[in-house]
Amino acid sequence: MSHLPDTPAAPLVASTGATSDALAITGRATWGSRLGFILAAAGSAVGLGAVWKFPYVVGQHGGGAFLAVYLGCVLTLGVALLLAEMTLGRLTGKSITTALRELGGRRWAWVGRIATFNAFAILSFYVVVGGWTVAYLMRVMTGTVLASDAERLVSEFSAFIADPVASLASMGAFLGLTAVIVAAGVQKGIERAGKWLMPALFLLMLLVIARAVTLPGAMAGIAWFLTPDFSVISGATLLEALGLAFFSLSLGAGMIVVYGSYLPKDARLASSAVWVATLATLACCLAGLMILPAVFAFGVAPNAGPGLTFITMPAIFAQMPFGHLVAIAFFLLLLFAALTSAVSLFEPVTAFLIDEYQWRRGPAVVAVLVATFVFGAPAALSFGVWSDVRIFDRTIFDLMDYTTVNLLTPAGGLCVAWFIGARIWPTARTVLDGTRAQWFVPVWRVLLLVLTPIAIFGVWYQSL
Ligand code: TRP
Repeated sequence: MSHLPDTPAAPLVASTGATSDALAITGRATWGSRLGFILAAAGSAVGLGAVWKFPYVVGQHGGGAFLAVYLGCVLTLGVALLLAEMTLGRLTGKSITTALRELGGRRWAWVGRIATFNAFAILSFYVVVGGWTVAYLMRVMTGTVLASDAERLVSEFSAFIADPVASLASMGAFLGLTAVIVAAGVQKGIERAGKWLMPALFLLMLLVIARAVTLPGAMAGIAWFLTPDFSVISGATLLEALGLAFFSLSLGAGMIVVYGSYLPKDARLASSAVWVATLATLACCLAGLMILPAVFAFGVAPNAGPGLTFITMPAIFAQMPFGHLVAIAFFLLLLFAALTSAVSLFEPVTAFLIDEYQWRRGPAVVAVLVATFVFGAPAALSFGVWSDVRIFDRTIFDLMDYTTVNLLTPAGGLCVAWFIGARIWPTARTVLDGTRAQWFVPVWRVLLLVLTPIAIFGVWYQSL
């Protein structure tokens, strides 16, 4: 992407007083700098999807080949939809429901409401796993979960997630941390969290990678991760990669719209979208490099599934020199990753109350906090006391995961793609005016109107 030479460190606006000017004109909070926006958006993208889900999905779908397909999805549809959502926010300065109503009329506002509900529903089960990261961080700090005995680790993990008090308490702690950041506002809360936690996250990942790749036998894991074997690619692989690309870029839930709405008028959207996609991809690659060499070095199957993070990794840390410190770094980075993403799911719901009903931020945050706890508690309990409750043959957690990630999120992406590419195209394309990325204008439209529907209907066809 050599035609996008600008660094994210360049200030958003030329004069230093411009941020407060923008605030005075629009009455809306703005980001302090372009770097702040990019890091906040990347913080949203890089979360449990990258660090928890990506490595085991790669494991289940044959390594390097999956990585190649995932990269392909992110760099085409991912960038197109990131840019589409940013455009919606940038054009209106509003969160998704208000934005769609202003540009498209009352019926489109329903798409926004559903997308906002989607963010809320994702948040409600996301905080369950977020709570596990809090609990495991405390446990590795006190040394209690580091054991090389896999059976003990499995039983500890199952006992923990099944314990209603422990899981609700850690979920509440995680949710509380999220709410504190959102309550502090756009610049003082969200932007500042991104600026501290994202660099810390990348540094901690590099630290863990440095340890992982120097383990004897680690090279086999790296080779497996980076060598594409295209013979294992099937329709299912493609669709899994696409779904993960969507989830890991935080698309389809109005999240990028709301972050885009805090951008000043002259923000460069195209290169911001490329930066966010690049950082998100980089994080996935680093997560793979962090986990897979260790998995190979200790002879664990790379397709160990969702338990990889909470069961396999502690076993590996227990046997590794300096494993205790590496384990603390690992769970700390997992917590940071989850936290910035949870913030980005919390914010669209908060902004919805602010933009649609003129609530103040404080009460809005409290309302979202309480509602999320109430809605999330059944998801947390579905690993224990309510594990027998089955709806459509799924536990409550799985049902929330499935409907949001496989149904509502692609639907949201599809609607936004159509809205930008067809409904308001003459206005939408102006966000690329005056940039060097003119060649991208027609490409963007094709991606939105042709490739996105094909890909999404493909996903649905496969999974329904
Ligand atoms: N991208 C985050 C992750 O990978 C999750 C996430 C945050 C998300 N905000 C979102 C997913 C909005 C969909 C929509 O963990």
